[in-house]
Amino acid sequence: MKGLLLAGGHGTRLRPLTYTGNKHMLPIANKPMLLYGLEHLKNAGINEVGIILGPIKEGVVETIGDGSKFDLKVTYIDQPDPLGLAHAVKVSRDFILDEPFVMYLGDNLLKQGVADFVEIFTKNKLDCVIGVSPVKDPSRFGIAELDEKTGGIIRLVEKPREPKSNLALIGVYTFNSSIFDAVNRIKPSWRNELEITDAIQILVNDGRKVEVERVSGWWKDTGKPEDLLEANQLVLSDLKGSINGEISEKATVTGNLGLGLGSRIKEGVNIRGPAIIGDNCQIGPNVYIGPYTSIGEDCIVKDVEIENSIVMKGSRIENNKRIVDSLIGAYSTILSAESIRPRGYKLVIGERSFAQI
Ligand code: TTP
Repeated sequence: MKGLLLAGGHGTRLRPLTYTGNKHMLPIANKPMLLYGLEHLKNAGINEVGIILGPIKEGVVETIGDGSKFDLKVTYIDQPDPLGLAHAVKVSRDFILDEPFVMYLGDNLLKQGVADFVEIFTKNKLDCVIGVSPVKDPSRFGIAELDEKTGGIIRLVEKPREPKSNLALIGVYTFNSSIFDAVNRIKPSWRNELEITDAIQILVNDGRKVEVERVSGWWKDTGKPEDLLEANQLVLSDLKGSINGEISEKATVTGNLGLGLGSRIKEGVNIRGPAIIGDNCQIGPNVYIGPYTSIGEDCIVKDVEIENSIVMKGSRIENNKRIVDSLIGAYSTILSAESIRPRGYKLVIGERSFAQI
């Protein structure tokens, strides 16, 4: 069994954060999103993983390399244009050869991992297993319509206007090599992509053994900024406290906190977990860090309240304000406007940024 981890695409909905780096390297609880998928594949007993890379590669190869530090063999597969998930399968043929494989969309976070999918696929000798999860708003997702009596798949529909089921495809699929014939038989959709749903529909119509498997535990697709914050909350909810830095006796910490090596929490700081702070950070004085906050390595945080936010590495925040529900890109600086005259907000903001000040 091989793994195919998708990290291509443009990540347009996460601009400006994705102008300068691959979306899958954005941190969730201080860990690049793609590593969650990589670890799930590893934990399902997979040793060889192909990673699809598109136009924005920055950060992926530097972080994962040849996979040896994860005890995996990693091969990079070029997909210069994101022409669809079925296209990603097509360009992977030389890597997959005739082995079965798990395809995992790198922007998905899943509590339970993928071992159950692999087990059911192998045990029941299936041609395809599709991971699904019930959702409140099925018209935003690819949906599996099932036969009420048999539980078998009738149809897969991309973003249906009038959904007949609430089972969304979560972005984890197990295939054998029959999928290669199917992806060669489909045509691009109205959005000019080769859709994996169309290819799986061919497997269903051909009478292949295709089953859905419901995920237990949470699942989150991280396409938009608010999704990143929600994924961060979900991962931090399971955080176990671990203190490797220094906490002043005059600081208050409640709830679970992960504190990295060389980091200092100064006196008077109040931290309410779950929260995570990376290595070599200086926190305080006059700081409140509220639940569901992740602060990357090498950050300086002073005179500020911050809650439910992701602050990426190398940033400096000193501004006497309350920052909530925010994503702050790596090496950013946020200072106070109070001390400068004439008074006013002074901003250097990249294209398509958002600020509410
Ligand atoms: P999407 O979220 O559909 O696309 P995107 O990541 O480019 O984001 P946006 O819509 O904001 O531009 O992609 C889902 C996942 O699949 C994501 O992990 C990227 C990956 N992908 C590929 O690797 N190749 C592709 O051709 C496509 C369409 C997606």
